[in-house]
Amino acid sequence: MTHLIDLRGIVRTFNAGLDSELTVLHGVDFHIDPGEFVAVIGASGSGKSTLMNIVGMLDRPTAGSYSFDGVNVLESDDDELARYRSENIGFVFQNFNLIGRIDALKNVEMPMMYAGVKVNQRRERAQELLEMVGMADRMGHLPNQLSGGQKQRVAIARALANNPDLILADEPTGALDTATGRMVMDLFHELNQEHGTTIAFITHNPELAAETQRTVMMVDGKIMAAEDETTDVH
Ligand SMILES: Nc1ncnc2c1ncn2[C@@H]1O[C@H](COP(=O)(O)OP(=O)(O)OP(=O)(O)O)[C@@H](O)[C@H]1O
Ligand SMILES: [Mg+2]
Repeated sequence: MTHLIDLRGIVRTFNAGLDSELTVLHGVDFHIDPGEFVAVIGASGSGKSTLMNIVGMLDRPTAGSYSFDGVNVLESDDDELARYRSENIGFVFQNFNLIGRIDALKNVEMPMMYAGVKVNQRRERAQELLEMVGMADRMGHLPNQLSGGQKQRVAIARALANNPDLILADEPTGALDTATGRMVMDLFHELNQEHGTTIAFITHNPELAAETQRTVMMVDGKIMAAEDETTDVH
């Protein structure tokens, strides 16, 4: 099977040439296959978010190669990369990152607006997505009128707006209590199992990581296979 994402020898050095130079990723090989649900764990500062930002095309590595669905993404300029990213990757963050002055529906419409989807079509899809995440009755609420779990469900609906090949989530349950985090995980399982959405998420919670098909552990900027590695099973 062709990997959906295939990163090889990824190095990320911050502040190159300065006294503060710091190499955070030391030659990371990381791949995700279509339909996988992968957890990334590891100590604070081990480079998880740095790696995710590169996978998410928000940042470029200092060295290494990255292909997404067979496309060499590092050859693209920043504008091309931004377009490619918005078409192919949905993001979910610990702190939701919703736009505060617009309601849930408009937040979900936003990525479709940037993608040039017509107003009626994007409204309809945003409504469908909010229904799917159980937020049908809160579409007109502003983010500050929603609970943390509700905000994260809106954020997940937004991440799905352009029907991405990959959902990347950086500690999506990190700001939520256990029960609400459970709801977010259930939604990820549903998306993965029923819609085939490929998901990679960072967590500090080993129990949540153990629910996925595969866990990779980052240690000091390198990936170690975790104990429940099941790469070859599917
Ligand atoms: N833009 C940057 N400039 C300089 N150093 C950075 C930058 N971004 C991250 N770092 C450093 O890289 C290291 C890894 O950070 P990263 O955010 O990837 O860790 P993490 O594994 O996600 O940690 P956490 O679990 O706390 O979120 C840290 O030492 C951090 O200080
Ligand atoms: Mg992090």
